[in-house]
Amino acid sequence: MDERDENDRLPEALAEEIRRRVFGEGFIRLTQGLTRDGVAFRISLRPVRIKGEALFQAEMRDGAKARTRNLTEGAARKGLEEILAQGGKRELHLVTAEGDLHVRVTRKGRPLVSRGRPKDAGGRPAQAQGHDREKRQPLTDFDAGALLRAVGIAAEDGTIRASMRGKYDQVNALLRAVEPLLPEAAPEAFTVVDCGCGKAYLTLALQRFLTLAKGWRGVRVVGIDRNAEVVEAARRAAVALGLGEGEATFQACEIAEAEWPRRPDLVMSLHAGDTATDDALVAAVRTGAERILCVPCCQHELHHALVGGGAMRAVLRHGILRERLADLLTDTFRAQVLRIRGYRARVMEFVSPEATGRNVLIRAERGVRPGLGEAVAEYRELAAFWGVRPYIAAALLDEAGEPAR
Ligand SMILES: C[S@@+](CC[C@H](N)C(=O)[O-])C[C@H]1O[C@@H](n2cnc3c(N)ncnc32)[C@H](O)[C@@H]1O
Repeated sequence: MDERDENDRLPEALAEEIRRRVFGEGFIRLTQGLTRDGVAFRISLRPVRIKGEALFQAEMRDGAKARTRNLTEGAARKGLEEILAQGGKRELHLVTAEGDLHVRVTRKGRPLVSRGRPKDAGGRPAQAQGHDREKRQPLTDFDAGALLRAVGIAAEDGTIRASMRGKYDQVNALLRAVEPLLPEAAPEAFTVVDCGCGKAYLTLALQRFLTLAKGWRGVRVVGIDRNAEVVEAARRAAVALGLGEGEATFQACEIAEAEWPRRPDLVMSLHAGDTATDDALVAAVRTGAERILCVPCCQHELHHALVGGGAMRAVLRHGILRERLADLLTDTFRAQVLRIRGYRARVMEFVSPEATGRNVLIRAERGVRPGLGEAVAEYRELAAFWGVRPYIAAALLDEAGEPAR
């Protein structure tokens, strides 16, 4: 089906407006989407700054495949002409500081135009206002090609492997989740410990993101995993990226037995499984980590320990409800113990539930006076109600002089 004919072209005044806004001040993003023979194609263009050079980043999605290229202005101008020359039913969405421009071209080639005003009087970029409904993709803030190839998310030609699409989205979600925890000004050094790092998709992505997109120096990541094979893969990926000992190291051992740097700037643990999350939290608190980010998974600890009687019997009778309740309580205890140990802890959703059911994120920052009386009382009441003594509390409250039960 090739519906391209003269009637398909956008009116020249509209095309000229798009050119002016894409290459003028305040350009944020241009996206065009269309479907051919049941396959969705999407192309987007946005400005990026890489190593001080102003470029345009084009992302092309063809069904499940995605490709990203950084273009000079000349190449971006050619690319824009190709976008404008595409025919058939399509939707184009331009976001600039002037506001949104949305063009829906019908099957008959008729362009239906709608416009949105800038979000604030100062015409502040939409990103700050969040009116770009797509989620930001931090992996497109820098030239991530080498990283994605080294960890196997992309094939040699730079295409995201269909089987790794979920991982690509997860890495972006992690980077988005980390951002609010980061200091505004570039620190002199920044050490990250990743507990249960696996093949280090996230570990190395964070190293590269902080170094290349944020321009930070002295970013060091330490990955810990008990599985020697994945640690080998992580080391190979770090070597492929040219990272030295001071930038990425990996230890093949239990989280609780690893050699930890003192006062890491960030400790993270994603889907490490069962009490590995607790081991990470315990070590993070003991070493005085400044920030913590964890996404727990497969927690079994409280499943059989819950003895809440009375009104709760009706809930605990059902395996799935017992399991969900145990997960919920485990994370509640984790956040509460972190509060007691001096962290401001927040619990939120990590990615959409369709991506993974294990999508609860605990994000914490040091800075609250430890041993808050109210937090301790809340903890005691909850533990007594359920008749449990959670693993994390046994480790972290007893040593702080606040007996876990
Ligand atoms: C599901 S993978 C997640 C890997 C990585 N965090 C990610 O999200 O891509 C969990 C990893 O945690 C590791 N792990 C689980 N418990 C551990 C423990 N107690 N000490 C060290 N590694 C552990 C496993 O070997 C596995 O590689």
